[in-house]
Amino acid sequence: MLRFASRVTTVALNASVTTRAAYAPPATACFIAAAPSTTFLVHHEKFSTMMPPGTPRASISVPSSIGRSIARPSIRHRAPVRSSTRTFAASGGDYPPGQIQPFGDLVVAGAEALPADAQMLVLSVCEGDAEKLSADDKTLEGYAPGLAAVVKDLVDEQEFKGAAGSSVFTRVAGMPFKHVGLVGLGDADAITGDAWMALGKEATAQATKAKVNTVAVGKYWMGDEEAAFRGKANGIAAGAFLGSFEDSRFKSDAKPGSVKTVHVLTQPGVDVTPEIAAGKAKASGVVLTKQLVAAPPNVVTPTALATVAKQIADAFPETCSVKILEKEECEAMGMGSYLGVSEASDEPPKFIHLTYKAKDAKKTVAVVGKGLTFDSGGYNIKAGAGSMIEMMKFDMGGAGATLGAARIIAETAPPGVEAHFIIASCENMIGSRGLRPGDILTASNGKTIEVNNTDAEGRLTLADALVYAEKTAGATSIVDVATLTGAIIVGLGPEVAGIFTPDDELAAELEASAKEAGELFWRMPMQETYWKSCGMTSEFADMKNTGSRGGGAITAALFLKRYIEKKETKWGHLDIAGPVWDDKKGGATGFAAQTLATWIASQGK
Ligand code: BES
Ligand code: MN
Ligand code: ZN
Repeated sequence: MLRFASRVTTVALNASVTTRAAYAPPATACFIAAAPSTTFLVHHEKFSTMMPPGTPRASISVPSSIGRSIARPSIRHRAPVRSSTRTFAASGGDYPPGQIQPFGDLVVAGAEALPADAQMLVLSVCEGDAEKLSADDKTLEGYAPGLAAVVKDLVDEQEFKGAAGSSVFTRVAGMPFKHVGLVGLGDADAITGDAWMALGKEATAQATKAKVNTVAVGKYWMGDEEAAFRGKANGIAAGAFLGSFEDSRFKSDAKPGSVKTVHVLTQPGVDVTPEIAAGKAKASGVVLTKQLVAAPPNVVTPTALATVAKQIADAFPETCSVKILEKEECEAMGMGSYLGVSEASDEPPKFIHLTYKAKDAKKTVAVVGKGLTFDSGGYNIKAGAGSMIEMMKFDMGGAGATLGAARIIAETAPPGVEAHFIIASCENMIGSRGLRPGDILTASNGKTIEVNNTDAEGRLTLADALVYAEKTAGATSIVDVATLTGAIIVGLGPEVAGIFTPDDELAAELEASAKEAGELFWRMPMQETYWKSCGMTSEFADMKNTGSRGGGAITAALFLKRYIEKKETKWGHLDIAGPVWDDKKGGATGFAAQTLATWIASQGK
């Protein structure tokens, strides 16, 4: 608190405040400085905080004669003082940063025959099959007499071919259900796991749109091996939960969605209860990731991320435990690189360490997430068009995916593995105590870094987190996940994330997990010669934190690699700056939670 009292903040004077001109500051704590010409700046923290939230701050220019006449004595009245707008936001709103159990009372269950209460029937169809549907199709007639003719009409009219991502829905009359829909799976020989999730998602999304409470969803063609069908039921259930979910935490007039019950149509004698539970766990993790990424930076603070990690550990006490390292403990461990980034922020840094341990764990892995709850750029401020400073709440997307994966792992409880979820969380702000371009920081492994750009902050936080993952947590395979560079978006665009690793085996594992999860990754080169040629060497320290513009995602990965010590440690880095957000899909995507959970589970096998 002493810090606050002694601190003087620079705030440009707002025009409307001047005209109200009524502030009598204690002479020692506030002063008005006339800039050489005619711009007036007021320096006083309390003055800045009495402005209502959202008050535009701007400096004003006045003729110097007026400047003299409104010297201190004319500013008399003291407006109500609020300690700070951030404190107001935190105390005024009680928003959850993310929910561990997000689906309320939505029930998803298997059904061998079409239940009488279903108001909507949704079936998946492969490419080719759609066009072959006849007006007396036996399968469709089995659901309701007359359905085949209606569906054939619909398919013809809409020229529905069963392509992946396509669907047709219509209202029907004279049948036990009111709506019917077909969802395309694409080529029968190339159907991937995510197609089943897409089916479930489309079913409940359409049901929500039609204000339906009960929907039945299944495959048009039910002939399947039991094991294969179980996997599909998992995906359909996960999708059903995701498709009905709406994030209305920040709306004052939120109404609950209509869907209450989803029947997953199964083959006779196949009880898919465990698969549906696993699907729900997966969806819960993805929703947690989405909520954390979507929430504003005054709600998802480092403290809020730590709270969510604690909530996961509390919900699964048999396998999970959590340790939050406060600033002092991080200092004691020498995490100068991480703490340097956090220095300018009033939000306390939180180093989060959540552990999952199966009873029979043989292998220790770690996921390390970048947890910048806001990235202003620091003194290398994100300025101008295209800097996306207003989007930098998503700079904790790696941490969001890490906690989402932890949520999935905790509930699905895969055997054979001990997994550490590590997040060195903080904000990258601007302040008199903050990092200056040119500062030299010392990381916890003793390496020194010349910070030639304060906006390359993610790697500074990850450096200490990687050292911790290897040395303190004892992980032998480590994957970090981060919205690390704009350069990866230049290279791979908005939908594909980069995989960086010197290890072919780990690359193959991650690629396989991504494929199973239906998430898009592309392996990038770790071109070691770029370290020198792209300017990462420093004359004064062991390295710089930033190289040349070209190859920016690669030099970032080369930087991280230097914080893994042992040759035997497998390490990989996922740069998810592109796919973390998609305006067309409603913003936060939940990207990487599933790939990471799938990868962790595979490590115990
Ligand atoms: N969080 C950003 C990366 C980012 C930028 C993600 C845009 C998504 C969209 C990161 O901290 C950053 O600012 N990186 C800089 C690095 C540069 C200064 C070397 C970048 O990519 O511009
Ligand atoms: Mn940055
Ligand atoms: Zn960043």
